[in-house]
Amino acid sequence: MAKPLGMRTYGDTVLRARSERVASIESDLAELLGDMVETMYAEGGVGLAAPQIGVSRQIAVINPEPGNEATLLKMVNPRIVAASDELEVKEEGCLSVPGIRGEIPRHAWVEIVYQNEKGVERRLRAEGLLARIVQHELDHLNGVLFIDRLSLAKRALIKPKLRNLAGGKER
Ligand code: CO
Repeated sequence: MAKPLGMRTYGDTVLRARSERVASIESDLAELLGDMVETMYAEGGVGLAAPQIGVSRQIAVINPEPGNEATLLKMVNPRIVAASDELEVKEEGCLSVPGIRGEIPRHAWVEIVYQNEKGVERRLRAEGLLARIVQHELDHLNGVLFIDRLSLAKRALIKPKLRNLAGGKER
């Protein structure tokens, strides 16, 4: 039975590490993916990357329509292979950076290649909200948070909030 896991938040070093490629699809992967989906739903998110639950591996789950099995994506080793020149700016937040939102530029569409939970290679062209979530989650796998992409002015503005979030954690 899949269970929600604890959320790692800003200040936790695992969020800043580059995740390891999944070399082979082991039997524990399906369980981990199931737990990640439950965690994403429990937290009210539309995407979750493995580092957010303390697992530094290139794995992410995405669902722009939470609860709809048809739109659920489970991705292993995802990478962007093509992206639009056009950027779109929209507001984003992150389960690992609670209480902070900001306008972030992202490619309007991206094409990605990933493996599904059975290790089968998939190609996906995403646009709109899905493209935004994909780029946000792939950033996590490289140790990048959405706040890194905020304007300098906005970043200066949220500095005290970030300091609070990180407070008491080992850096
Ligand atoms: Co996030």
